[in-house]
Amino acid sequence: MEAKIRALLEELPGKEGALIPLLQGVQSTLGYISQDAVEAIGEVLGISESEVYGVATFYSEFRLFEPGEHQVKVCLGTSCYLKGGRELLERLSRSLGIPPGRTTPDGRFSLETVACLGCCSRSPVMAVDGVVYGNLTPLQAKAIIADLDE
Ligand code: FES
Repeated sequence: MEAKIRALLEELPGKEGALIPLLQGVQSTLGYISQDAVEAIGEVLGISESEVYGVATFYSEFRLFEPGEHQVKVCLGTSCYLKGGRELLERLSRSLGIPPGRTTPDGRFSLETVACLGCCSRSPVMAVDGVVYGNLTPLQAKAIIADLDE
């Protein structure tokens, strides 16, 4: 991993300001920021792992877990939250057996929250593998996931 990070760094003007571009490069390659990548970035930039984690967790664009085969994103933006987004999330979390920000042990599903999917008029909303479903009840959301699991 360290060699990959060094190769990514060579494409940048220098170490100054390289942390975010390196995180973006890793995410674009792996689909998430792995523990190995955090260690390697810290090593290459000469900063602590906690500094790398601090930045990676601050920006919502960075994912710190390996995405599942199916990626479920539940919107908890204001409109969705007020119209039942929290209940959707709780139902899916129970059904999949994982909290938000995790992937099922078999790697089939990952569950995460997002701030707004840009279709508030259809709240509450979730996206599965990029397909947006709106005006959902918790039972409908669970059924959509169950269909994918067959
Ligand atoms: S708040 Fe959920 S789509 Fe905008």
